[in-house]
Amino acid sequence: MSVIYRVRVLDTPADPFSGGELRSGDDVGLLVDDGIIMARDEFAVVRQSAADAEVVDLRAGVLLPGLIDTHVHFPQVHVIGGLGMPLLDWLEHCALPEEARLADRDYAGRIAREFLSGLLRAGTTSAMVFGAHYATAMDAFFEEASRAGVRATAGLVVSDRILRSDLLTTPQRAYQQSRTLIDTWHGRGRLRYAVTPRFALSASGPMLESCQQLVKETPDVFVTSHVNENLREITEVATLFPDSRNYVDCYDRYGLLGRRTILAHNVHPQAAGLSALAAASASVSHCPTSNSSLGSGLFPLREHRDAGVRVALGSDVGGGTGFSLFKEGLQAYFVQQLLGDRGVPLTPAHLLYLATAAGAQALDLADTVGDLSVGKSFDAILVRPAKGSTLDVCLENAAGPSDALAKIFVLGTTYDVAQVWIAGDQVHARD
Ligand code: GUN
Ligand code: ZN
Repeated sequence: MSVIYRVRVLDTPADPFSGGELRSGDDVGLLVDDGIIMARDEFAVVRQSAADAEVVDLRAGVLLPGLIDTHVHFPQVHVIGGLGMPLLDWLEHCALPEEARLADRDYAGRIAREFLSGLLRAGTTSAMVFGAHYATAMDAFFEEASRAGVRATAGLVVSDRILRSDLLTTPQRAYQQSRTLIDTWHGRGRLRYAVTPRFALSASGPMLESCQQLVKETPDVFVTSHVNENLREITEVATLFPDSRNYVDCYDRYGLLGRRTILAHNVHPQAAGLSALAAASASVSHCPTSNSSLGSGLFPLREHRDAGVRVALGSDVGGGTGFSLFKEGLQAYFVQQLLGDRGVPLTPAHLLYLATAAGAQALDLADTVGDLSVGKSFDAILVRPAKGSTLDVCLENAAGPSDALAKIFVLGTTYDVAQVWIAGDQVHARD
């Protein structure tokens, strides 16, 4: 069944960091067949070429590509809002006690449903999801993600030191459980697997070796972890890995850096680590509200750009302050402003790119999603604020497409996301 969506569209098919511009159309027709965008032009033109197609009039809102979150923890929905602590205290007192509750599979299923609902309500259609420490919780997650239709890449979190004992495992058990999960879930529908050592602080050399073994056996799996987030963490990692040249090297020496690797934070990078990330085409997930909330630091975007490292956005729920990538984009903008001459001045197009196409690149999904071009999947969100709300009146009076997009990032919340589609299926409707 063909559908023409008639709507105002904003997207970033060309990278604004390399001179690309915001693409906009005021009265666009997007012809969607079987979940794929088959034509895109002025509505009247598309209408003429597809006279039989049903027309869905979305002109009351603004259509954006589905948002892409490259770092978000599924077990941490309930710990959002744990303010006032730096990373290691926050983990001990806030995040990890809750993560231990996911040993109960029923509880894990409930949290997975709450998590996926949070993602979709925020307009996030694809995500690199940081998992749980229990294989049963990951089965529950993948089942729920499959039901929700989200493009989720996720895996069992593995650790064998430092954390509370009920979150620890052995390299052998981690290998076996991950292997089974990969065989069950990787490549099933929209799901993919990510080998997930929590961070080098909690994963010994033998544990990282077990991760390496999984990647060797299944080279198209993803890898995700944390890096260079907090100064105390970085000092302790250097003590635990005296032979590593820098934090990134802890992962690199175990073959864990590649095109399908996403490392979160990198707030305090070393030059050699940036070069290694760039050489491997690995990505960094920039998590601005988390970095601010946990006092981790101001993200050096310019250093990443200059080194040629891919960067996309992550909400880092629950260290971050919620699922909205509009809020992350705004906070990313603030941080670069605060860095002054050392910051990268971000335009609204940069923010949209970081929240969409850059995430698609990081997740190796750029052939499928990230913008609303012909040939891509119809993964899209309709921003339609409540009538008379400040965002509504500001959008009505916007000076042009870039100004409208600025208003969406500055004022937009999850409640302004009225409809969400993945592969042409409506997966969320507000109200
Ligand atoms: N480093 C290791 N685990 C975590 C986590 O859960 N959140 C954040 N922000 N950093 C981490
Ligand atoms: Zn994290």
